[in-house]
Amino acid sequence: MIHAHVTSWFLALILFFVTYMLYKKNAGKKSKILHMILRVLYLAILATGGHMLAGYLTDPGIVNQGPIIIKGTLGVVLIGLMEIILVQKKRGESRLLNWVFFWITLLLVLFYGYSVLG
Ligand code: HEM
Repeated sequence: MIHAHVTSWFLALILFFVTYMLYKKNAGKKSKILHMILRVLYLAILATGGHMLAGYLTDPGIVNQGPIIIKGTLGVVLIGLMEIILVQKKRGESRLLNWVFFWITLLLVLFYGYSVLG
């Protein structure tokens, strides 16, 4: 499950940057198709992450569930930010603050995923 999770968020990140570049270049149809594939990957991330999260939350052996809940929440926020950034780019808008939030959240998710949860 963890491999499916890592594979889907890794592919999603690449697809996110490629789709962003295509929206920037006004490559209408191509960017739309990649954006749709990216949305399917969001579902894969949510399904794999949600499945593991449910497993941890119902495991009586885990005393401190806080970091896992924070990790999952940050993951959902990151997906939301990717979608917001792309939809805004599609409309020709661009907000620096969303990128600031994106990078901070990405760093926090990777920190929680690898360093805190290990
Ligand atoms: C783009 C969004 C996301 C990214 C970049 C991300 C990243 C990561 C990383 C780096 C790990 C650690 C992998 C490893 O130990 O090899 C991980 C594990 C995990 N993620 Fe995510 N994740 C995302 C979304 C989510 C979501 C939405 C949820 C829950 C709804 C979630 C729940 C989990 C859980 C429960 C683990 C297992 C922790 C463990 O066993 O150590 N993630 N994720």
